[in-house]
Amino acid sequence: MKMRGAGPANDAEDDLRRRWVVSISAFDALIAGDQKIEYKDWMPDGYRESLIRQIAQHAHSEIMGMQPEAAWISRAPSLARKAVLIAKVQDEAGHGLYLYAVAETLGARREDLLDALHEGRQKYLSFINYPTLTWADVGALAWLTDGAAVVNQVSLCRTSYGPYARALVRICREESFHHRQGFDLLYTLSQGTPAQRRSLQEAVERWWQPALAMFGPPDSLSTHSASSMAWRIKRATNDELRQRFVDLCVPQAEALGVRLPDPALRWNPERGHHDFTPPDYDELMRVVAGHGPRNKQRLAHRRRAHEEGAWVREAAAAHAAKEAAKQAAAREIDAQEAIAQEVDAVEEEWPLWEVFVRPRRGVGHTHAGSLRAPDAALALHSARDLYTRREEGVSLWVVPSRSMTSSDPEHKDAYFAPAADKQYRHASFFPPPEGVEGL
Ligand SMILES: [Fe+2]
Ligand SMILES: [Fe+2]
Repeated sequence: MKMRGAGPANDAEDDLRRRWVVSISAFDALIAGDQKIEYKDWMPDGYRESLIRQIAQHAHSEIMGMQPEAAWISRAPSLARKAVLIAKVQDEAGHGLYLYAVAETLGARREDLLDALHEGRQKYLSFINYPTLTWADVGALAWLTDGAAVVNQVSLCRTSYGPYARALVRICREESFHHRQGFDLLYTLSQGTPAQRRSLQEAVERWWQPALAMFGPPDSLSTHSASSMAWRIKRATNDELRQRFVDLCVPQAEALGVRLPDPALRWNPERGHHDFTPPDYDELMRVVAGHGPRNKQRLAHRRRAHEEGAWVREAAAAHAAKEAAKQAAAREIDAQEAIAQEVDAVEEEWPLWEVFVRPRRGVGHTHAGSLRAPDAALALHSARDLYTRREEGVSLWVVPSRSMTSSDPEHKDAYFAPAADKQYRHASFFPPPEGVEGL
């Protein structure tokens, strides 16, 4: 006979279990239907932890990736190349920020993630740490490792976590500029002197293996692959992506007139792919464990930059606190004046709300319009009545209008104009030579 303990505790437990079963079935159904999971959706702990680990690792790789090229900004051979390099390094910082923000939607704290990087508890793609000895290495690094990143991230744009997928779409657009300008740099060298062509060949030889290693260990040894594939966090395996990358690189290498350093590299008509020598996994694991070239210097540099930037973070926090106090004081005065003069009673009792609708799963909320309502719950009800009467969406946000801050129309130029004369930030600025595909 089944013994029951204290009734209410068991009932509560049963209820919890029942709700868990409902939640996990809803989650599984979304994954099976290739729908996006959003941050307010219920998700299993393992899914959340896997995502935080992968996104943190990705974010760390982006900000660590600023270093090998930052060192070349002052040595780049022309102002145009310096501007391109500055834009690329700035992009990598931006990619880090998009991704830390995505990890934060999952409940991770940015300072904890950075501590984990600085203390070596969380990994990153340490293959980008190989030294950039010559100007040609700067091109080879971008053509090969940013190229590997594009292959990997294009596949991740279909990842099941909505905020990550959307950040990746933006990152991929920018990475294709990184990739293309790297190829352009190398192509310029390939048209140069014999010494320049030699430095191009040597740089490609140094970066080929690190680029292959970017895809991680082989599927048979990859510890997190199976669950990540089942949850559709990853959409292709390490080996599939590595193969795709090699197939794309071969014709591009031909256009550059460089030999990829692999005697086993050849077209296999039966498989419809190139055969190649996989990266040396002992070396790969040694580098992943933090013992690769420049690992220690790069991490030390990162820690120093973080410590030296502490005053900026403190100043920003102090400024924010001061502004918040000023606004609170201003609101108090406003409120007193409103009561005294009984003006603006409508805004007090029926404040304005901005309404945002997510048209379907997987895309962001877009602004639909405004309405007045006495509180958030009624604002939501009215928003449903006003803006979603014809199946316009699947999720609604209402935000008090007075909580929103927008850029000043007068400052339009300062915010948006400078981008117009930086066309080199777009991949299309670097037309590939005739016959070169996949860039
Ligand atoms: Fe990046
Ligand atoms: Fe990049």
